[in-house]
Amino acid sequence: MTVQSRSPERLVHVPLGDRAYDILIGPGLLARAGGEITSRLKGRKAAIITDEHVAPLYLEALMDGLQTDGIEAVSLTLPAGEKTKSFDHLATVCDMVLAARIERNDAVIALGGGVIGDLAGFAAGIVRRGVRFVQIPTSLLSQVDSSVGGKTGVNSRHGKNLLGVFHQPDLVLADTSILDTLSPREFRAGYAEVAKYGLIDNPAFFEWLEKNWQKVFEGGPERIEAIAVSCQSKADVVVEDEREMGRRALLNLGHTFGHALEAATQYDSKRLVHGEGVAIGMVLAHEFSARLNLASPDDAKRVEEHLKAVGLPTKMSDIPGELPGADVLLDAIMQDKKVKGGKLTFILTRGIGQSFVADDVPSSEVLSFLKEKLAK
Ligand SMILES: NC(=O)c1ccc[n+]([C@@H]2O[C@H](COP(=O)([O-])OP(=O)(O)OC[C@H]3O[C@@H](n4cnc5c(N)ncnc54)[C@H](O)[C@@H]3O)[C@@H](O)[C@H]2O)c1
Ligand SMILES: [Zn+2]
Repeated sequence: MTVQSRSPERLVHVPLGDRAYDILIGPGLLARAGGEITSRLKGRKAAIITDEHVAPLYLEALMDGLQTDGIEAVSLTLPAGEKTKSFDHLATVCDMVLAARIERNDAVIALGGGVIGDLAGFAAGIVRRGVRFVQIPTSLLSQVDSSVGGKTGVNSRHGKNLLGVFHQPDLVLADTSILDTLSPREFRAGYAEVAKYGLIDNPAFFEWLEKNWQKVFEGGPERIEAIAVSCQSKADVVVEDEREMGRRALLNLGHTFGHALEAATQYDSKRLVHGEGVAIGMVLAHEFSARLNLASPDDAKRVEEHLKAVGLPTKMSDIPGELPGADVLLDAIMQDKKVKGGKLTFILTRGIGQSFVADDVPSSEVLSFLKEKLAK
C-alpha cells in the first residue's frame, strides 16, 4: 500500500498536475483546519456550507479554528438530505458566496456529507468561473468517495446528478473522529463503498476488512487505515481517468443494480439509502458474474457473508415493502446506462478483487437473472 504515514495521520496525494491536492486523514483535523488551509491557499476568506445536522456539532469548532489562523469565515446552514442538492439551493449558495466577496484565491468550504460536498463544490466551480474549494467530509461515504475526484453537481427533475461540473478540491480534510456522531446506519452505508475498493481490485484489502471491520466501526487506527486505503484507491483511479472515459467506471461496481433499486424505492431513505443499494448491488454483480460463468458462486457467497456480518442488506428481499417486477428494474437499468443494440455496460468480476468493465451484456440475460432473484 502506498499511503504515506505520519502516524496516526495519513496523507494521500492526488497528483493531477496543476490541480494536484492532498487528502489528510486522521482524528482532530477539524480544529487544525485553519493551519492546513493557510499553508496551502493564498486567500484569507472562506464561505462554509453545511447542513442542519452537522452545524450544531462542528460548525463553531471550525469557525473558531479558522479565526485563530486569521481566516475570515461566514457560514450557511442548509436543510439536511438529498433534496438540498437542487438548482434552487445552488443559487442560494452562489449568492451567499458572492455576497461574502469570496475571490478566486479564497475558499468555499464544504462541511458535511456528500450532499453538501456535491452542492458546495458545484458552486465553487462556477462562481467567478472557479474559486478554491476545501472539502471537510463528515460522513464515511463522503470521506472515502464523494470528497475525492472532483465530481460536483445537483439533481434535476429528470434524474440524479444531471447538472454539474468537474472541479477538483484544493484540500480534503477527513477528520476520522467526526464519524463518531454518524448514525450506525449511515456508517454501514458508507462502509459498503469501503468494501467496494477491495472488491474492485484489492483482494488483500477485502481480506483485511473481513478480519478488521469491527475495529473500523469502533474507530482507532484501523478506521484511519481503511479510509486511507479507500482514498488511495479512488485517487489512483481518478488520476488515471479523471473524466470517466474508461477505468473510472469500475467505481460503479454494484451501482447499476443499486441505482435501479434506489429508483424502484423512489429514493425513499426510510427504505433504502445509497450504500445499502450498493451492498445489494455488489452481491448481485457477483452472483450475475457467477451465472455468466465468469466467477465462482463461492465468491458471491463470501461477499454476501461479509456484508451481512456488518449489518448491511444483501438481498432484494431485505428491502422493506414491495418491489416492482424484473421488467421495471431492467427499465431503470436501461435508463441509467448507455445501451447499444440491446447490450448493456456492466461492472462484472472474475472473482474477489478482479472486477472489469463489460460492455456487451445482453439485456435478456439481466432480465432472466432478475426474474430468478425476485422469485426467491
Ligand atoms: N461526487 C461524487 O463523486 C459522489 C460520489 C458518491 C456519492 N455522491 C453523492 O453523495 C451523496 C450522499 O452522501 P452522504 O451519504 O454523505 O449523504 P448526506 O450528505 O445526506 O449525509 C447523510 C446524513 O448524515 C448526516 N451527517 C453527515 N455527517 C454527520 C456527522 N458527522 N454526524 C452526524 N450526522 C452526520 C447528514 O446531515 C445526513 O443527514 C449523494 O447525493 C450522492 O450522489 C457523490
Ligand atoms: Zn456509491
